[in-house]
Amino acid sequence: MRASLLHLFGLLLGAVASVVSLPNNATDLSSRQAATNKLVFCHFMIGIVSNRNSAADFDDDMKRAKALGIDAFALNIGTDPFTDTQLEFAYASAANNGMKVFISFDFNWWNTGQTAEIASKITHYGALPAQLRVDNNKIFVSSFAGDGLNVAALRSAVGQDIYFAPNFHPGQSDFGAPAGGNLVTVHAGDQSYVNTLAGKGYIAPASPWFSTHFGPEVSYSKNWVFPGDLLWYQRWHDILTLQPRFVEIVTWNDYGESHYIGPLSSPHTDDGSSKWVNDMPHKGWLDMAKPFIAAYKAGSPSVDPFITSDQLIYWYRITPKDLNCDATDTTMVPANNASGNYFEGRPNGFEAMTDDVFVVSLLTSPGTVTVNSGAQKYTFDAPSGASAFAVPFRIGAQSFALSRGGNQVIGATSLKVIQDTCPCGLYKFNPYVGTVPESDRDALQGASLSSFTNGLKVAYNPAPSLPASPPATTAATATSSATAAPITVSV
Ligand SMILES: *[C@@H]1O[C@H](CO)[C@@H](O)[C@H](O)[C@H]1NC(C)=O
Ligand SMILES: *[C@@H]1O[C@H](CO)[C@@H](O)[C@H](O)[C@H]1NC(C)=O
Repeated sequence: MRASLLHLFGLLLGAVASVVSLPNNATDLSSRQAATNKLVFCHFMIGIVSNRNSAADFDDDMKRAKALGIDAFALNIGTDPFTDTQLEFAYASAANNGMKVFISFDFNWWNTGQTAEIASKITHYGALPAQLRVDNNKIFVSSFAGDGLNVAALRSAVGQDIYFAPNFHPGQSDFGAPAGGNLVTVHAGDQSYVNTLAGKGYIAPASPWFSTHFGPEVSYSKNWVFPGDLLWYQRWHDILTLQPRFVEIVTWNDYGESHYIGPLSSPHTDDGSSKWVNDMPHKGWLDMAKPFIAAYKAGSPSVDPFITSDQLIYWYRITPKDLNCDATDTTMVPANNASGNYFEGRPNGFEAMTDDVFVVSLLTSPGTVTVNSGAQKYTFDAPSGASAFAVPFRIGAQSFALSRGGNQVIGATSLKVIQDTCPCGLYKFNPYVGTVPESDRDALQGASLSSFTNGLKVAYNPAPSLPASPPATTAATATSSATAAPITVSV
């Protein structure tokens, strides 16, 4: 089953956090956290993890998220037969790993007439030790959509206090109905929610990307992109300015919509997305979020004091948006368009994407950041703290370095080149995310690759294929250098 997070993208939920080691003021930080009770959630799709066999299969996700400062996973559930089995595993693993979880009912699958069934789930899972409870022990419950749900009836059926934070849409639901309750989430914009909630807790969404490319090989055909580019960086600055009660990262593992920040290796089944997810790790986005989460929890408007080591995080799409893949793409024919989200050829909205390499520098002191994109060299004077840069990409190898006083401090060449041929024959808009220093290899495995070749028009070995060592870089000539200033983030 696939849940469209379309409506979340007006703004995106979420966030991770981090036990950033603070050299000083740690006591001050924890006291402020306690005072503000801010929490970071991450949206987790239960619908694609039917292949997990025990609570232990959730342990890596729980540990990894906790280490980054994520407080709880929002467990998105439909009505699949395996839902309860996987929920039990997730709750057990969370308890074993000191994490919290709560259910997010996905109303693509649930309907507002199911008050009794929803109440029954809340009652059962709410009693488990890993259930997130806030504000005097209220059971935290969320939703995807669900406008029109009779919240009073739900509260009555549960018979205990719940902190109900649904993804209702301002103007479409009665936000006053949940007496003493609290609403939350995305869609029309932060201010719309903040105004409508009138002091109730707001879950500000944070998401890095959106692209999807399902053709007629599946029943849930959809093919479109949202403007992504530097969204992940800019959105975290918004969060630090807004300082909402809650943040929810969208998502940990929705590979089909390309907004996963969790590892490719996180066990999951293949909804047909592996053909654009394979070889496309996003873990670097977790790294980028880490100091922002710490800053958010500390109530700091600046991330800079929370950066404790030098790191570059970079991302880019691997083909130019104008590359013509009509001859071999999977979406050149009609398909189910019940959702209104199916388009033929290049994903709808592609014009908004820029053919750039994006680089975020997290620095402990000022330095010079160098990008070599297909032998075109760019240098930036990067200040201490967090900065972002975007440069037009060129076909070929992509290299990144930080230097100080003329000496390279860190540097690496990406394992993924930018190419002028169609990957797997497709229009591919999911980005490659890397870091300097490089992180551990991360690859799809087993069931995550099972639908790879479905619908493909070119022969392709359905397996991870990043090279063992980086491609050769062409030295850039001095004359092709350019100097640019950091992107200004307006909040
Ligand atoms: C530590 O916190 C105190 C109180 O908020 C503040 O006055 C001080 O400047 C902080 N010190 C550092 C090194 O950030
Ligand atoms: C699918 O529906 C949307 C909304 O009605 C429409 O804009 C789009 O053109 C349709 N796609 C195709 C391939 O007809």
